[in-house]
Amino acid sequence: MRILAVESSCDETAAAVVVDGRRLLSNVIASQTALHQATGGVVPEVAARAHLRALVPVIRRALADAECGWDDLDAIAATAGPGLPGALVVGLNGARAVAYARGLPFIPVDHIEGHVCANWLSSPLAARAIASGDATSSRAAASTASAATREMDEPPLPALALVVSGGHTELLLMLEHDRFERLGGTRDDAAGEAFDKVARLLGLPYPGGPPLSRLAAQATVRRLRLPRAWLGASDDFSFSGLKTAVLHVVQSAAPPPAAEIAWAFEESVADVLSKKAAHVAAREGVACLLLAGGVAANRRLRERVIERSPVPVFIPPPALCTDNAAMIAAAAFRHLDAAVPAQTPLDIAPTARRRVGRW
Ligand code: KG4
Ligand code: ZN
Repeated sequence: MRILAVESSCDETAAAVVVDGRRLLSNVIASQTALHQATGGVVPEVAARAHLRALVPVIRRALADAECGWDDLDAIAATAGPGLPGALVVGLNGARAVAYARGLPFIPVDHIEGHVCANWLSSPLAARAIASGDATSSRAAASTASAATREMDEPPLPALALVVSGGHTELLLMLEHDRFERLGGTRDDAAGEAFDKVARLLGLPYPGGPPLSRLAAQATVRRLRLPRAWLGASDDFSFSGLKTAVLHVVQSAAPPPAAEIAWAFEESVADVLSKKAAHVAAREGVACLLLAGGVAANRRLRERVIERSPVPVFIPPPALCTDNAAMIAAAAFRHLDAAVPAQTPLDIAPTARRRVGRW
């Protein structure tokens, strides 16, 4: 089953062709990062127009890279939400139009579920990511990660998914391929949003996660300790207090070097996310822990989660953690029963639903 999927929920226009929800034939991403750097963040209207310009070339390129024609496709999928409304409308309706023209069934996909399903994509890259886990500093980490690769080539269920991105921070119990239960999430900023805002305070460009992480690695003094919001027994997260704490440090009379602040911030985020995820994984008795979303590309977070998890950890390679369409195809393959004729009236769903899964 070959699915062509489109993703346009934020600032990447992406298209991919994936076989059986697993094997990547192509994965094309047109990033708008440069466009949004001047404003230090995504302006929704600007993003929507850029999607409109990029969509057709990106789809053409995905088909060409996959060396497949329209007749080789079995279905078309697209992200229906959550995301920026204008951006979603362009991708969803563009993909539906193609499905209509080619007489192919159409599958609307939840973006958060897409992130989780990136863990089912197989590529030489994916296998490497699980094996090394980016965690060479800890022997425990290395052995847990390679155990995961040796014993299973795809995540066993039930699983606990920690989805950390620019728009979301969610702890989801994945009971079956299409059945999720939301255990907790952020009460204020998403983890990626916190990275982006703190990066901005430190004078780093948008998106802030990667440059902040590079700066943190350069810290020579590692003394600063920033707060952690544990929120008692709850499975929720909060990052706004941490962000304010960074602001106070930056504005203090004699602030430490920016690298030390970046390091302390990254430590705080990785500490809370990894400790909570490990605790909930043990409590729920899941078979594995799935890390997903743009912040899952963070080296320190990957390391900490692998170190602490009581169960095998699966993490997509960094390129499949950030927004892409291959993950949307992977999720669509698990929702073939949700396929509809392309002319069926369908709307976007800009806000996250309480339950990830069915449309
Ligand atoms: O999943 P994603 O591409 O888009 C959303 O669905 O939001 O996530 C983007 C977020 C941004 O906030 C970006 O700063 C963050 O992921 N990010 C990182 C890293 N790479 C991307 N945060 C920390 N460390 C990274 N290496
Ligand atoms: Zn995303």
